[in-house]
Amino acid sequence: MGRTEAAAMIPGLALLWVAVLGSAVPNTPRLRLSFQELQAQHGLRTFRLERTCCYEALLLDEERGRLFVGAENHVASLSLDNISKRAKKLAWPAPVEWREECNWAGKDIGTECMNFVKLLHAYNRTHLLACGTGAFHPTCAFVEVGHRLEEPMLRLDLRRLEDGKGRSPYDPRHRAASVLVGEELYSGVAADLMGRDFTIFRSLGQRPSLRTEPHDSRWLNEPKFVKVFWIPESENPDDDKIYFFFRESAVEATPALGRLSVSRVGQICRNDVGGQRSLVNKWTTFLKARLVCSVPGTEGDTNFDQLQDVFLLSSRDRWTPLLYAVFSTSSSIFQGSAVCVYSMNDVRRAFLGPFAHKEGPMHQWVPYQGRVPYPRPGMCPSKTFGTFISTKDFPDDVIQFARNHPLMYNSVLPMGGRPLFLQVGAGYTFTQIAADRVAAADGYYDVLFIGTDAGTVLKVISVPKGGRPNAEGLLLEELHVFQHQLYVASRSGVSQIPLHRCAAHGRACAECCLARDPYCAWDGAACTRFQPSAKRRFRRQDIRNGDPSTLCSGDSSHPALQERKVFGVEGGSAFLECEPRSLQARVEWTFQRTGEVASIQVPAEERAERTTRGLLLRGLRREDSGVYICAAVEQGFSQALRRLALHVLGAAQAERLARTEEAAPVAPPGPKLWYRDFLQLVEPGGGGKNSLRMCRPQPAPRPLPPESRRKGRKRRTHALEPRAERGPRSAVHW
Ligand SMILES: *[C@@H]1O[C@H](CO)[C@@H](O)[C@H](O)[C@H]1NC(C)=O
Ligand SMILES: *[C@@H]1O[C@H](CO)[C@@H](O)[C@H](O)[C@H]1NC(C)=O
Repeated sequence: MGRTEAAAMIPGLALLWVAVLGSAVPNTPRLRLSFQELQAQHGLRTFRLERTCCYEALLLDEERGRLFVGAENHVASLSLDNISKRAKKLAWPAPVEWREECNWAGKDIGTECMNFVKLLHAYNRTHLLACGTGAFHPTCAFVEVGHRLEEPMLRLDLRRLEDGKGRSPYDPRHRAASVLVGEELYSGVAADLMGRDFTIFRSLGQRPSLRTEPHDSRWLNEPKFVKVFWIPESENPDDDKIYFFFRESAVEATPALGRLSVSRVGQICRNDVGGQRSLVNKWTTFLKARLVCSVPGTEGDTNFDQLQDVFLLSSRDRWTPLLYAVFSTSSSIFQGSAVCVYSMNDVRRAFLGPFAHKEGPMHQWVPYQGRVPYPRPGMCPSKTFGTFISTKDFPDDVIQFARNHPLMYNSVLPMGGRPLFLQVGAGYTFTQIAADRVAAADGYYDVLFIGTDAGTVLKVISVPKGGRPNAEGLLLEELHVFQHQLYVASRSGVSQIPLHRCAAHGRACAECCLARDPYCAWDGAACTRFQPSAKRRFRRQDIRNGDPSTLCSGDSSHPALQERKVFGVEGGSAFLECEPRSLQARVEWTFQRTGEVASIQVPAEERAERTTRGLLLRGLRREDSGVYICAAVEQGFSQALRRLALHVLGAAQAERLARTEEAAPVAPPGPKLWYRDFLQLVEPGGGGKNSLRMCRPQPAPRPLPPESRRKGRKRRTHALEPRAERGPRSAVHW
């Protein structure tokens, strides 16, 4: 609402981005694990149904040990231990009549006129509530899943369906955000076929349905609902509020700026029953405030304006959870994503601040200075704060004020005043977030799992910087939980991956320490799962600094480096392979010439080219023979990775070697002196005398262009079920 905030949105000024955010180089994860690697070594499990897309509804049920999944025409029940095992599924297609109607209305029979299951909630001890688009005919059903201790079941009575209007969207492209509180469903959804009548709606249960004022852009202006949470405010349930997170077109934008996207948090009271004479069956306690995630700059702020997802991380008491939110940008010039963290107290403070009010000849938005009626709009009728028992008792001036002033003047700012973590120009956008609080040796750390539209998951930890609430995000891992061809074919599924892969960090104390993964610690012999209860003496972990020099000094368990022989031919090339596990490490090569004592750094010159996979030496000379040591340097800590003894042979000598029986079968065809080009004869460490093996350096894998990564983005819905061995579980879906 401030002038500077709005100014940063003008495309010309968006060039500030680079200045404000520093370099536009994306953060590099320390580890990058491919789909194949995860599947083969790190327990990635997947589930998918044939010819079914859009796994959009996820419900984690720890009591039953099941993960319920809603997809196109299906509901499935998976085992939390292993989602590939003993899955149950039921078909829930839309009836033929509805599909035909949908088709007559001009929708595509094959991609739109299906029942896309959009929401799943635990309804009572035996049933789930499930709602789907029903071929543009929203519909809900109660799915029987049995009691907790019974054998898993999944049953749906197709004769007993409920109207799903105001609960599930009509359009499969729209998202449904909802929460079930008791028997009542609070949803943010478009409640009409055209997708224009957006509403925050309460339905089911005993009380009459309640909604927002229809077609009033001050209340909702083409919103996209993201998440809904029920957050108590005190021990008294009358103070309970429901918070809606969404983005919308800003009503406060001036016409000169055009459409402006803003992110919002909205509130309503759980005990709202509407007004008596006006706002009948409408919310009387609805308020909304802007949610800001921006990088402050001297010439204006850089805004991440598009809220994508919110994760509520519980704290010690139920009323002050932390809100982790991911944002992207609507700018056509810069692509960026950010994570911002909000405290519930800051959200509440914005709702207690001034109301936004349009005033003056310029119709500017200003803080409302006049008298605010009593009880203050937005307060729930409760004994805690006042004497009103029901919203129907509210005086008329309160109702009128509430109707005309749904927007707060103050925005909600992130903790620390800026994003915790951001990526610019990464070629992908953050779309989902889940957080896990992990007990480490020196306290608690929040680990964030961020889903991207490229089908990857980033694992980031929040590390305190100075005093709390200042923190910074550290990118630990990038996990490719889906295979690329799946996106291209618009097929998706559900994936399950453990929250930690401690062994993947490496086999040395320093690697484990540099990983800064709060789930892992060095136990004296390996990098393993950290259990805070276990004896501390043997556990080494330094999340805050990741400094192995103190933590791992004198650690004798460092694997001894075996010397490996490499042969090259005079005038030819040799490839000295060395690839650190960590993508954040810098590689240093030292060289000790045969017959000499001193070691020197291998200079960066034309003959010695550094590649991501090793050192390529060209135009070999006899005096290049000697020992090459490759070390990974990270955070000032150097760790030797490879020790290679290069022997440069004369041409005649090499030809004799190449003619030996062992070498012949793998000799590539080509000109006679083929071995001059990239030839490498490697003697495996400790191998037999004659076990010569030939290999060629492999080109480093090229990252895919962003266009192909984003293919099929609309249709894609992924699910991930990260799971701690003991701690909390969380579900991400996107
Ligand atoms: C999960 O279940 C599948 C199918 O039964 C099985 O092939 C796989 O080995 C299981 N994985 C684990 C880690 O238990
Ligand atoms: C749960 O709700 C369903 C649907 O209303 C109902 O049929 C069932 O009896 C309920 N179960 C229990 C244990 O209350």
